[in-house]
Amino acid sequence: MSTLFTPFTLKDVTLRNRIAVPPMCQYSAVDGFANDWHQVHYASIARGGAGLVIVEATGVSPEGRITPDCLGLWDDAHIEGLARIAAAIKAAGAVPGIQIAHAGRKASANRPWEGDNHIPEHDARAWQPIAPSAIAFGGGLPRVPTEMTLDDITRVKGDFAAAARRAREAGFEWLELHFAHGYLAQSFFSAHSNQRTDQYGGSFDNRARFPLETLAAVREVWPENLPLTARFGVIEFDGKDEETLSESIELVRRMRAGGLDMLNVSVNFVIPDVQIPWGTPAFLAPIAERVSREAGLPVASSWGIDDPLLAEWVIANKQMDLVMIGRAMLSNPNYPYAMAQALKVERPDWVLPAPYAHWLERYRGAGKLAAQ
Ligand SMILES: Cc1cc2nc3c(=O)[nH]c(=O)nc-3n(C[C@H](O)[C@H](O)[C@H](O)COP(=O)(O)O)c2cc1C
Repeated sequence: MSTLFTPFTLKDVTLRNRIAVPPMCQYSAVDGFANDWHQVHYASIARGGAGLVIVEATGVSPEGRITPDCLGLWDDAHIEGLARIAAAIKAAGAVPGIQIAHAGRKASANRPWEGDNHIPEHDARAWQPIAPSAIAFGGGLPRVPTEMTLDDITRVKGDFAAAARRAREAGFEWLELHFAHGYLAQSFFSAHSNQRTDQYGGSFDNRARFPLETLAAVREVWPENLPLTARFGVIEFDGKDEETLSESIELVRRMRAGGLDMLNVSVNFVIPDVQIPWGTPAFLAPIAERVSREAGLPVASSWGIDDPLLAEWVIANKQMDLVMIGRAMLSNPNYPYAMAQALKVERPDWVLPAPYAHWLERYRGAGKLAAQ
């Protein structure tokens, strides 16, 4: 009896199983607009049987994009293309989610397969990134960002709220705020990247202010009955992990009090060259379990949990409420079907739509196919 293939309800939304597709940038948009690539990509992934499909990091402003090729929601004109994607995900039986994001000092980068580094300043496609402090990330992202003024901070919070309102208009039923991976909100919370001396820097309360106020601005416009979640890095793997974890858990508690319904537990990625235990399968699972227990809210997580038995184990053992499966879905959009088969789920054919399931399940023998 699989627990991975049991429904999960959060607010008024029920997922058909505990498999979620995390946001994965496609770097394939022009001026933030979704196109045929995104449509086919998200529709095929949703048909594969996951309970939740979260559309990639979508910029709340042009300067908040990671690359010039990222999706955007800073203009009402972006709604139409994303509405078609939300409808396709829903028609395939999955819940449509979207991640809204501001990349902060990591913005203005080339696509990963074109270098994954800052676009040179003299290139017409580049722009000047903004951040809590004028401190560069380093490594391949050496550009020194401009320190945000209080007006900038007010504007970006408003950009998040406006993008959330547009996401709802597009038909998304699950919202994820990108507060992780060294992007803007994560960089406000980390003392590595935030050395402000005003009310947005210094003490815990001050570093927590930007994420909490952004959440509050979004909470006002996002419907109360639909899940409002965030992705947030709770650990840096820089040798000061206990300190970072306990501070982060306190922020998650406050986010929960501010109306957050679930956390997608991830890594900080605020400093380059940290020792992340990539080789250890599900290395974030025990950390996700602790965040859930100590902060008192449901959690999801990813990073190397794609083995079906491992995914089943982390759900059955209550390490997390949802398993996020990323790269395995790029390799095989019908991967949930393969997981159902591996877990010997009774009649796994329901994971796939009938035009696929009919042939794969009813006519398992090759000889029968020849008769068609
Ligand atoms: C192509 C690609 C794009 C990604 N884009 C995003 C993104 O937009 N937002 C985000 O929070 N994480 C992003 N990630 C991280 C994934 O959401 C996920 O956490 C990661 O792939 C680990 O899960 P996996 O081991 O199942 O692949 C991306 C990962 C990949 C491979």
